Amino acid sequence: MKSDFCCADFAFLDSGTGGIPYMLALKQKQPSARCVYLGDTKHFPYGEKSVEEITECAAKSISVIVKKWNPHTLIIACNTISVTALERLRSLFPKLPIVGTVPAIKLAARLTLNKKIGFLATNASVNSPYSKRLIDDFAENCQVYCRGDPELVRFIEKDFFTASIEQKKNAVKPAVDFFASNGCDVIILGCTHFTHIADIMQLVAGNNVKVIDSREGVSKQAIRVESEDSSKKTEYLSESFKDMSFFATAAAPEEEKEYKLLCKRLDIPWGGIVQ
Ligand code: DGL
Repeated sequence: MKSDFCCADFAFLDSGTGGIPYMLALKQKQPSARCVYLGDTKHFPYGEKSVEEITECAAKSISVIVKKWNPHTLIIACNTISVTALERLRSLFPKLPIVGTVPAIKLAARLTLNKKIGFLATNASVNSPYSKRLIDDFAENCQVYCRGDPELVRFIEKDFFTASIEQKKNAVKPAVDFFASNGCDVIILGCTHFTHIADIMQLVAGNNVKVIDSREGVSKQAIRVESEDSSKKTEYLSESFKDMSFFATAAAPEEEKEYKLLCKRLDIPWGGIVQ
């Protein structure tokens, strides 16, 4: 049924709300891009799961995305999925161009003046061999201080959008203090959730520290990948398709309220629950 077959230029996947700033960054670069977003909230948090579980949950979500929106390009707006399962997912979906999100280690190594870098991510990401390889390959002359922070991930997913500025500052303080006590002059936000809070993190860390993430690099790469294969251009767009809609795989009534509020604040449509 071609009439209700809908095809997006870009679909974004994360375990929750973390990848939304990545979608907004891409839209800023390419306003005409038709985007859709799926948060696998049913299986949040990915950062405390095994590689097998992460791969299985992400593969299920990608199947939902392909079936519903048949996107031209998929952006895994999640460091945890990207550093643990990207290659496996590419082999499971060989026809789908997939762009991953990996910690900005290379950029951090370029920016640090004192060669002390803070790497803030999920436990799965900081412990992954892929991240260790990135550090060895691009930051071998630096000391990299790793911190897995599931509490901060949870705060951003569950409480951030209704929290006060003071609560947000308190939430980032343990991480900022940890990196300050080790003398880091760059902090990598190696979990997409943290990009929601990048400005607060920068404020609390102060002007002598650079807080960085990978939004710029991922958007550029996704646009490059999408433009390379114009034979697969989007053809059918259902009338009900709402650009930049945020869908979730589960939400209790209270959570749904929170997600709707988040959508209102960010000016994106709430798509609802898909399975
Ligand atoms: N936003 C995800 C990341 O970039 C993971 C958060 C989680 O589900 O633990 O790593």
